[in-house]
Amino acid sequence: MKVAVIGTGYVGITTAASLGEMGHQIMGVDIDEEKIKKLQSGILPIYEPGVEPLIQDLMRQGRIQFTTDLREAVCFADIIFIAVGTPSLPNGQADLAYVESAAAGIGKCMDCYKVIVNKSTVPIGTAERVKKIITSEVNKRDQFIKFDVVSNPEFLQEGKALQDARWPDRIILGCASENAKNLMNKLYQGVQAPKYFTSPKNAEMIKYASNAFLATKISFMNEMARLCDTLEVDVTEVAQGMGMDKRIGPYFLQAGIGYGGSCFPKDVAALYSMGQQAHLEMPILREAQKVNQTQCDWFVEKMKGIVNLEGKNIALLGLSFKPETDDIREAPSIKLIDLFLRNGAKISAYDPKAMKPIQNIFPQITMAEDCYQVFDGADIVVLCTEWKQFQKLDWMRAKRMMRGNYLFDGRNALSAKELTAIGFHYWGVAKKT
Ligand code: UDX
Repeated sequence: MKVAVIGTGYVGITTAASLGEMGHQIMGVDIDEEKIKKLQSGILPIYEPGVEPLIQDLMRQGRIQFTTDLREAVCFADIIFIAVGTPSLPNGQADLAYVESAAAGIGKCMDCYKVIVNKSTVPIGTAERVKKIITSEVNKRDQFIKFDVVSNPEFLQEGKALQDARWPDRIILGCASENAKNLMNKLYQGVQAPKYFTSPKNAEMIKYASNAFLATKISFMNEMARLCDTLEVDVTEVAQGMGMDKRIGPYFLQAGIGYGGSCFPKDVAALYSMGQQAHLEMPILREAQKVNQTQCDWFVEKMKGIVNLEGKNIALLGLSFKPETDDIREAPSIKLIDLFLRNGAKISAYDPKAMKPIQNIFPQITMAEDCYQVFDGADIVVLCTEWKQFQKLDWMRAKRMMRGNYLFDGRNALSAKELTAIGFHYWGVAKKT
């Protein structure tokens, strides 16, 4: 099938790549000329494992192309994905300006029946709004063209986006007509995953409720970790024991320094704001956010109870909001660096992918050349992002380069036993082993 993808950010580009891989003919479109120029020469504006070589491969086979011309993309496609950004407004609501402008653009040049698919995370009722905008633009041209708007939210996790697109747990399809249902079924026929057909509004809510539930799960475990820490209980073992119950499940129970990224903080805030607008209190969402917003403060207070940070050299391992991405949006590292600097510490940091954007925010911190130089003269190590390479470090070598021996594991990703045997003073988030 012929598919256009409007927006070439994380969601758009991975959606385009995975639909191309399924055998469809893709046209990616963006208003950013620089981005499109880069993509046309096979260079991705983001880092996501496996996506760049896949795009290059699809280009060689002539199965994907990029343009800044929305009209060209709309006329080319049977199915048009809207995958533009929906940033937060100051009150937490999602800003729909880009979605609305994409919808208007489609309405201005649509020439025959199309299915328009909302891939971006959008407030409940947006499919309806997109439909109205397109209808109004089509009417302005004195035309009558049939079309359908589908809500097909993405559940891709950064760092494993391709894997998630190839083997999703489920595909949610909010379709209002049989025609749209059939076309979406055909589009995804090569993917081995259950398809759940529902209304566009229900699909929009499924996306928000899923992310808010996962974020709440993390905040719940972080709250448990605070209690476990004072009671000398190991929260990682508690999580393992809890996760063996099928009703709870073993995933997203990892305590640490809190969730970050472009989705969880934004989506929980947007859902909370929808509740406010409906005059509902939403106390669970409010507290889930509060626990997350204070988790780094709690972590640093715990550190200060063990070692004075004033004048100390801190080696910070990991800056991206999670491993396998260069994304620093809402990354806990930003909050930690700020707290460390305010407490008079000096910071040397290392991250395989995200040093540049953090250096732009904090020019006063030192970026190490490699994952060993970061330990040079350090008093304290803080693991902020659990990149695999940190788990495989030669910790003897690291320790020899240090002045002190404190290690704070913000992700509970290292072995307390091994590090203590080497001579580190290990502290994890309520983790003992
Ligand atoms: C998330 C959702 O998982 C995905 O389905 C959605 O559509 C987009 O948002 P992503 O933001 O890429 O994906 O990251 P995810 O892997 O979900 O992690 C989010 C944050 O939670 C990270 O900061 C991670 O470190 C943290 N996390 C995750 C925990 O602190 N503990 C856990 O147990 C799991």
